[in-house]
Amino acid sequence: MLRYIICASRILASPHPAMTRLLLPSFLVLCTSVLNAVAQSQYLLGLGIADITGPVVETNMMGYASLGQTDSGLHQRQRARAFIIGEPNTPANRVVFVNADIAMGDTGVRRAILAGLATKYGTLYTAQNFALSSTHQHSGVGGYLENLLPQITSLGFVPQTYDAIVQGVLLAVDRAHASLKTGSLSLGNTTVTGGNRNRSPTAYLANPAAERAMYVNEGDDQDTTMSLLSFGSRGFLSWFPVHGTSIYENNTLVSSDNKGMAAYLYESSIEPNAMPGNQTFVAGFAQANVGDTSPNTLGAFCESPGQPYDGQPCQANSSTCGGTVEDCHGRGPGFTLDAFGFHSNEMIAQVQVNAAKSLMGSTLAPVTGSVRSVHVYLDMANHTFTLPNGTAAQTCPAAMGFSFAGGTTDGPGSFDFVQGDNSTSQNPFWEIVKSFITPIPSAAQVACQAPKPILLNTGYATFPYAWSPSTVDIQMFKVGNLVMLIIPGELTTMAGRRLRAAVRAQLIASNIIDNSAYVVVAGPANTYAHYITTREEYAVQRYEGASTIFGPSTLDAYIDKYTSLVPFLADAPTGTPVSDAAPPELTSGALSLNTGVVFDAAPIGKSFGQVLIDVVKSAAYKAGDTVVAQFVGANPRNNLRLEGTFLSVDQLVSGAWTPVRSDSHPSTTYQWTRVSTILGTSSVNVNWTIESGTPAGTYRLRYFGDSKPLIGSISAFTGTSSNFTVAA
Ligand SMILES: *[C@@H]1O[C@H](CO)[C@@H](O)[C@H](O)[C@H]1NC(C)=O
Ligand SMILES: *[C@@H]1O[C@H](CO)[C@@H](O)[C@H](O)[C@H]1NC(C)=O
Ligand SMILES: *[C@@H]1O[C@H](CO)[C@@H](O)[C@H](O)[C@H]1NC(C)=O
Ligand SMILES: *[C@@H]1O[C@H](CO)[C@@H](O)[C@H](O)[C@H]1NC(C)=O
Ligand SMILES: *[C@@H]1O[C@H](CO)[C@@H](O)[C@H](O)[C@H]1NC(C)=O
Ligand SMILES: *[C@@H]1O[C@H](CO)[C@@H](O)[C@H](O)[C@H]1NC(C)=O
Ligand SMILES: *[C@@H]1O[C@H](CO)[C@@H](O)[C@H](O)[C@H]1NC(C)=O
Ligand SMILES: *[C@@H]1O[C@H](CO)[C@@H](O)[C@H](O)[C@H]1NC(C)=O
Ligand SMILES: *[C@@H]1O[C@H](CO)[C@@H](O)[C@H](O)[C@H]1NC(C)=O
Repeated sequence: MLRYIICASRILASPHPAMTRLLLPSFLVLCTSVLNAVAQSQYLLGLGIADITGPVVETNMMGYASLGQTDSGLHQRQRARAFIIGEPNTPANRVVFVNADIAMGDTGVRRAILAGLATKYGTLYTAQNFALSSTHQHSGVGGYLENLLPQITSLGFVPQTYDAIVQGVLLAVDRAHASLKTGSLSLGNTTVTGGNRNRSPTAYLANPAAERAMYVNEGDDQDTTMSLLSFGSRGFLSWFPVHGTSIYENNTLVSSDNKGMAAYLYESSIEPNAMPGNQTFVAGFAQANVGDTSPNTLGAFCESPGQPYDGQPCQANSSTCGGTVEDCHGRGPGFTLDAFGFHSNEMIAQVQVNAAKSLMGSTLAPVTGSVRSVHVYLDMANHTFTLPNGTAAQTCPAAMGFSFAGGTTDGPGSFDFVQGDNSTSQNPFWEIVKSFITPIPSAAQVACQAPKPILLNTGYATFPYAWSPSTVDIQMFKVGNLVMLIIPGELTTMAGRRLRAAVRAQLIASNIIDNSAYVVVAGPANTYAHYITTREEYAVQRYEGASTIFGPSTLDAYIDKYTSLVPFLADAPTGTPVSDAAPPELTSGALSLNTGVVFDAAPIGKSFGQVLIDVVKSAAYKAGDTVVAQFVGANPRNNLRLEGTFLSVDQLVSGAWTPVRSDSHPSTTYQWTRVSTILGTSSVNVNWTIESGTPAGTYRLRYFGDSKPLIGSISAFTGTSSNFTVAA
C-alpha cells in the first residue's frame, strides 16, 4: 500500500498537472499493475494429496528393472502431492508442481493427465504450467512407462498401474484446486548431514579441479543442500538429491522409499491422529540432481560369502568384486538392522525430515514477484546448437553403453536381457521383442556417441515401438525469485550445478531476477530420458555416463536450451518459444503380457476372510512385538482400494471399534500369497509391529478383500481377527 501511495503521489507531483489529472485513472491502474508485477507477495496457493498405488501383487516393481522383483504386498502406499501457485488476479499466471511417489515422470502418463485437466479446467492447467515430477523411488509398482525399454521387466505395459497414477494425480490436483486461497511463500536452505553419498566418485573426479574446488563446502562430490519453499502452516515443497534406493531390490512389498517415508513422517508429526494420506498439511520432498547420489551412505561392499574379499569395499572404479558387479552392494546407515533396508529407509527419511523441520521452524526469506512458466518439446536426436566457446555441437539418437548393463552399487545389473539370450529366455516379453533387437549402430552414430561403446542402439529401435524417447519436455517455473528447472532425466551432481549456475547467470543478465535469483532442479520429471552427466564424467563411462543417452553433448544441449528460454520468464515476455513436435502417442498400441485375475476361491469348507492363523489371545502383547493374523485371501488386483486400505488395526474405545492404523502406517504390512493357481486359493498375512507409546487396551486386526468368482462380479468381504490385548 505504501508503495502504491508513493507511486500515485509521484504521478500527482509530475510537472504537467493538467495532463496528469486527465489521465489519472489510467495512471493509477498502471501503478497497480506495476506494483503487482514488482511486489507480488500474495499468492493463490493450493495443496492436495491422493493415492496412486497400482496393483500390489503379481506385478513387476519399477526402478531396479529386475525381473525377479514381483510385488507381493504393501508396506506404504504411493501418493501424489500437488502444489498450485498462482497470482491472485491473473489466473493464467499459475503453475502446478506434482511430486509423485513414482520412479520417474512419463510422457504417456503426463499426456493422459493433461487431457483430464483440459476436460475439467479448460486452459487453466496445460503442458506449459503442469509438471509431473517423481521422487525417483525404486519400490513402487511398474509397467506405466510408455517406451519399450523400461517395459521389458514388467512384461510390457500394465494399464492398472497407469490408470492408478493418472487418476490419482488428477485427484491430487482437484484437491489442491479446491483448496486454493491466498497466502504467502518463503524460501530458505540448510545442510543435510548424512543424507547422501556419491556412488560414482571416480567419475566425479574427472571434472576440472578448479570447478570441484568451488563446491568443497557444499558437500564436495554431493549437493548436501536442501532448498525449501514454505507455504506457511499449509505445507512445503523441498528439494534434496538422494536416490530412492534405500529399500533393496530383494524387497517385494510396495513402498515409497525415503522421500515418501519422509512425507509420511512429517505429515503425521503435524496431524498424528489422521490416517496417512488424509492429512491437510502437505509435505513435499522432491528430487533434485539425483543422478550419482546414493542413500547408501556407508559405501559399497562385497557380499561374496566364501571369497577373500567378502565384506571388503568394492573395487572403486568398476564397483566390482572378484571382477563382476553382482556382489557389490551399497549399505545404508541401518544396514545391520534388517535384511531389506527398511531401517535405512526410515533413517534417510528422518534426516530429510529434520532438515525440513529446522527450515520450517526458522524465519525464511519472503518470496515476492511474478509467477511464470515456459515449456517446449525438444527432439534430442540430432539436435544441433553452439557451445559457449563458439564450436558447433550436436546430440545423437539415443544409445545405451555397456556399463548400463552393469547397473550401480544401489542395484547391480539392469534389464536382465543384457546378460544374453541364454539367461533371459525365462522372460516371455523379451522372447517377443528380441527379434526386434536394436539395429547395429552406423559409423556416424558410433562417432557421435564416442567414447561410449554402444550396447543398445535404442534411438534407432522403433519396433514394435520406440525403445527410448527422442523428444523430451523442457520446462521452467518462476515463482518470484525462485526458478524450478523441470528436468526430463537424472542430472549428476556436477551436471546439476552447471545447469543451475548457467540459468541463474542468464536470469540476472537478462534482468529477469536480481541477485536473489535462486535456482533448483527437479526431476526426473515429465519424460524419462535417463541420465545426464558432464562431458568429463561421460568420458569415464560409469553407469551414469553409459546411460546418458543422447551422447557427450547432452548436458551442453540442455544448458543451451534452458538458458535460451529464460527471456520467456520475464514479467512481460514477448513472442512464444519455438517448440519441436510433441512425441507420438504409444500407450494405445503398447504390448501387454500381464494377464488379469482369472478367479478366486476359498478352500473347501472355508470362506473368504476366515481366520487361518489367529492372534495370540492368552497373553498380552507389548511394544516391539509383532501381531500377526492370516486370512483366507483373494487377489488384491480385483480392487486396488485406492484412497482406502487393505487392513486396519482397530482399538476398542468406549465400547466402539475405532481404526487406528491403515496399510500405509510403516508399522503394518499386508502380504498376499498365492496358494494354488488351479484352485484359485490365496492367503493374506496382516502384521502389526506395535510402536512404543501405543496405548494399552483391546485391539483387533481386520483384512479388507475383494473376490472374483469364475462367473459373476467382484464382491467385497472383511476378515476379523480375535480381540487381543496390548499392555502398557
Ligand atoms: C542458500 O541460500 C543462500 C541465501 O539465498 C544462498 O546465498 C546460498 O547460495 C544458498 N546455498 C546453496 C547451496 O544454494
Ligand atoms: C580410477 O579412477 C581415478 C579417478 O578417475 C583415476 O585417476 C584412476 O586412474 C583410475 N584407476 C584405474 C585403475 O582405472
Ligand atoms: C479423513 O479426514 C476427514 C476430515 O478430517 C474425515 O472426515 C475422514 O473420516 C477421514 N478419513 C479417513 C479414512 O480417516
Ligand atoms: C537383500 O539385499 C541386501 C543387499 O544386497 C542384502 O544385504 C540382504 O542380505 C538381502 N536380504 C535377503 C533376505 O536376502
Ligand atoms: C539423425 O541423423 C542421422 C544422420 O544424418 C540420420 O541417419 C538419422 O535418421 C537421424 N535421426 C533422427 C531421429 O532424426
Ligand atoms: C569447445 O568446447 C568443446 C567441449 O568442451 C571442445 O570439444 C572444443 O574443442 C572447444 N572448442 C574450442 C575452439 O576451444
Ligand atoms: C547356455 O550357455 C551354456 C554355456 O555357454 C551352454 O552350455 C548352454 O547350452 C546354453 N543353453 C542354451 C539353452 O542355449
Ligand atoms: C509377518 O509375520 C510373519 C509371521 O511371523 C512372518 O513370517 C512375515 O515375514 C512377516 N512379514 C513381514 C513383512 O514382516
Ligand atoms: C471382542 O470385543 C467385543 C467388544 O467388546 C466383544 O463384543 C466381543 O465379544 C469380543 N470378542 C471376543 C472373541 O472376545
